[in-house]
Amino acid sequence: MLTSWIDGRYLPHRRARVSVDDRAFLFADAVYEVVAVYDGRFIDARLHMERLANSLDGLRIAPPMTSRALSLVARELLRRNRLRHGYLYLQITRGSAPRWHGFPDPPVRATVFMSVTHKPAPGESPARADDVVSMPDERWQRCDLKTTSLLANCLAMQDAIDAGGSSPWLVAEDGTVREGASSNAWIVTRDGVLVTHPLCRNILGGCTRGRILRLARELQLRVEERGFSRDEAGEAAEAFISSSTSFVRPVVSLDGEVIGDGGAGEVSLRLYEAFIDSLRRGDDLTSGLDDNDIRH
Ligand code: PDD
Repeated sequence: MLTSWIDGRYLPHRRARVSVDDRAFLFADAVYEVVAVYDGRFIDARLHMERLANSLDGLRIAPPMTSRALSLVARELLRRNRLRHGYLYLQITRGSAPRWHGFPDPPVRATVFMSVTHKPAPGESPARADDVVSMPDERWQRCDLKTTSLLANCLAMQDAIDAGGSSPWLVAEDGTVREGASSNAWIVTRDGVLVTHPLCRNILGGCTRGRILRLARELQLRVEERGFSRDEAGEAAEAFISSSTSFVRPVVSLDGEVIGDGGAGEVSLRLYEAFIDSLRRGDDLTSGLDDNDIRH
């Protein structure tokens, strides 16, 4: 039985509850983080805390706990669940109040929730590949904030599955591929350039994305942070997605058309290996939840 933590209490996951007046339930008025855990350690914890602070700030939710306090709970949750590999889920909502669109005045106590998910240790090569389906990006204008308002992402995911794929790539009106439903999108052009969308309000700045960019530079790959179109992706030598739950996952087809030779590409595999190697080495430029206080 998994143990979760909600508003100050550790308890069996199935007994964790929020009020029907919680604004996350009523309005998806909440932010979240998914932090990878490798060998009992949080990966890129400080980046996740910085992004959490930015998301809270974007929604004007006052941080309810210091990052030190969040860190203590998170570590204790790993210990109680004996989590070696997997991830931590952390959600902060604006709290519970009678249903009204404006913020509760005076502000109410935020709801804070954490849970963990066990996963097998990542292998020497990616466990699976994706068949991606392009979809119009129908999300709002602040995709840089990690909010739980994910309905457009969920619908796109299901549409991709219904179309025979495994996940969507969300495409802007001008044809630019922005990102996946819960991942960043990458291609490797036929002349070997690694390309991903630049940071802006239309994509989430992935922590995994940042680590991959650093590793790519170490591997002396040519990297371009620029928009690429769905058509350019169709012509690419390789494609992959990145996230805290999939690390580097090859994309083998786009809209039913094979990408490259239809298998995991060479650059994608090199990046996957470098990624896992960096986790094994404990190479964490941003270690420590503790020394970065999200409360002002
Ligand atoms: N999603 N883009 C979107 C829309 C995401 O939801 C995510 C992460 C990413 C990748 O971010 P990171 O590398 O920091 O995980 C990009 C998480 C895993 C989720 O919603 O489950």
